[in-house]
Amino acid sequence: MEKEIERIKNRFYRDCADIKDISGAEEIRIRYLGRKTELNTLFSKIPTLPASQRGSWGRRLNVLKEEIARRLEEKINAISDKESKIDLTFPARRPPKGSIHVLSSVNRKICEIFKNLGFSVVEGDEIADEWHNFESLNIPAEHPSRDVFDTFYLDIPAGSGGKYLLRSHTSTVQGWVMKNVKPPFAVISPGRVYRPDEVDATHSFMFNQIEGFVVDKEINFSHLKGVLLEFAREFYSPDIELRFRPHFFPFTEPSAEVDISCMMCKDKETQAGGKTCSVCKGKGWIEVLGCGMIHPHVFNACGIDPSRYRGFAFGMGIDRIAMLKYSINDIRFFYSNDIRFLNQFPV
Ligand code: PHE
Repeated sequence: MEKEIERIKNRFYRDCADIKDISGAEEIRIRYLGRKTELNTLFSKIPTLPASQRGSWGRRLNVLKEEIARRLEEKINAISDKESKIDLTFPARRPPKGSIHVLSSVNRKICEIFKNLGFSVVEGDEIADEWHNFESLNIPAEHPSRDVFDTFYLDIPAGSGGKYLLRSHTSTVQGWVMKNVKPPFAVISPGRVYRPDEVDATHSFMFNQIEGFVVDKEINFSHLKGVLLEFAREFYSPDIELRFRPHFFPFTEPSAEVDISCMMCKDKETQAGGKTCSVCKGKGWIEVLGCGMIHPHVFNACGIDPSRYRGFAFGMGIDRIAMLKYSINDIRFFYSNDIRFLNQFPV
């Protein structure tokens, strides 16, 4: 009997030391104070003992039982004390914070620069009709370049301007403004455009462009060059150079594509190791926008007299500009909403 009591007591203290939480304590309470316990087995042996010993063994067992109950209670109090204690000095968990999307911040920056040059921001509609997307821009039906601006047509009845569609370029805004505002004006218009392109690292069926155009009496190509150079130096760096290459757009004449000098390898760092610059492919120039003098047919279509007014227009892809600025190599990052990507552009 003596040995058994010692054994139970020792085992209890060992188990007790291992208790980690309230449910652990409950398990131990059932093991030592429940109905089917070694302690109860000992209690049930008492009637079999000689009558003179029954009293003292009974007391010994009761003392052990009380000791176990007391110790367990202390343990439980200690644990719940610890669990409910709030450490006010502990740093708070920061709630996740949203940030401005990188395309939005690039867009804002571009608009800011043009606003400082006197341009007004006009938001155009993403749904346009054939007149705004094509006809007014000197791209009549059957014109081969209509294929270049491959288009999503909408399955709704056509209006007076022809079929409705998701605009394939922001040049639609030229018609809206020219028909409704009396020149002179200088407008910048950012927004989404849609083309049924196969999606890959550099193409998406939806992307962002920014259109700019100025109409006044004495506008010439050097104004266009001056405005674009001012923009590029403000946006990229003060030592950036521009290169105008002759090009064709139905709505401008003459037309040009504009390259900027590559800001990645201008110090020849990337070429020093014999490697070709991955941004400009070793050419030293990167194509960034299309532009030109507004075609007289566009003025005529919009009710502006081409013998009195002149203008220039340009259009550039915001996604591409953001990709170049931040060395982003896949356009899909902009639209996949991966927080690990988005968080790299805190504003
Ligand atoms: N709209 C043309 C495009 O999407 C860009 C452009 C705009 C070119 C204005 C000239 C003038 O490619």
